[in-house]
Amino acid sequence: MELTQHCYAEISLPAFRANVRHAKKTLAGKAKLMIAVKSEAYGHGGLTLAHAAREAGADALAVLDIAQGIQIRAAEPDIPLLCWLHSPTSDFGGAARAGLDLGISGTWQLDLLVAQAPGMNTRVHLKIDTGLHRNGALAKQWPDLVRHAAAIEADGHITVVGIWSHLADTSLEEDNASLQRFHDAVEIARAAGLTPSLLHIAASAAAADVPEARLDMVRVGIIAYGVSPFGDRTAQELGFQPVMSVRAQVVSHSPRGDTATLGMGFGDGLLPPHAGRGWVTYAGVRYPIESVEADHLIIGSAADVALPPVGEWITLWGDSRGESPRAEDWAEWADTIGDEVVSSLGAHVQRKVIDEN
Ligand SMILES: Cc1ncc(COP(=O)(O)O)c(C=O)c1O
Repeated sequence: MELTQHCYAEISLPAFRANVRHAKKTLAGKAKLMIAVKSEAYGHGGLTLAHAAREAGADALAVLDIAQGIQIRAAEPDIPLLCWLHSPTSDFGGAARAGLDLGISGTWQLDLLVAQAPGMNTRVHLKIDTGLHRNGALAKQWPDLVRHAAAIEADGHITVVGIWSHLADTSLEEDNASLQRFHDAVEIARAAGLTPSLLHIAASAAAADVPEARLDMVRVGIIAYGVSPFGDRTAQELGFQPVMSVRAQVVSHSPRGDTATLGMGFGDGLLPPHAGRGWVTYAGVRYPIESVEADHLIIGSAADVALPPVGEWITLWGDSRGESPRAEDWAEWADTIGDEVVSSLGAHVQRKVIDEN
């Protein structure tokens, strides 16, 4: 790939495949593994990583909405592919024709599905809200939802293959309470005549820390990209390696020679660190980040040490040898989570895909 910009991201498919295999072994165990490739696979490239996830043994994929699902379905015709965020204008008919699995949170979604895709036996996963309050039917809506689903399943419009929820992961006690609410909801669904074979509630964090939450399938996102969902453990400590590595070129030195300009800024998706927090390394020396502007960032000089030469490439994050900052460091400097650091990378920033296989 010819580099035409002063910054680029290297995307390592061997690292991603190794992470997916590691997730299967250590996070899924006997459960199936669904890999989340939403938001363009957290900024890494949706189609490419969907393909690599399936090659590495993922049993299913997840994206946010039907539009993304239809896009990925064009490249991945067979793997189960779950979409769960819908609006009244979502293309339920297109989803059914593409053979997508639909996460369903309300009866209005079932009505739209039946109106647009009658008799198509669309695979549905009913979602119960167990405390996160982001999506899913409330406990008081649940009996109605499962009754309605059972009726239209009997008419051949849908097959309820799964029941699911999402955990808040704020504490073990909260997750355990949510898990209990989930099992109660499954009982109500079974009593209504549903026979779901896929119960799933755990994402990366709970799959690692709450083995009893793995159930039939775990939905793993950020950790498969080598970014930790935990404040107290790095992804590397858990056996995952960074997939995205971002580099920016030294484009100039200031006339006084005390600062250097690197060719990446917030217009490229770089999250500006709070004052005094950020740094980069070159040849084993740390240089403080003085500011992040629209299309560049400025680094200061470390005492008595020369600035990195003009033309050199500096790794901003993702160096698996661990000398450079990690995506999680950038997250900490900007008071956010690693998901935002990698997903914010501008769509225009060149992705250099490494594939040794
Ligand atoms: C419903 C659902 N499942 C799974 C995931 C993956 O979560 P994580 O990236 O923490 O593994 C997400 C991510 O937001 C999600 O919204």
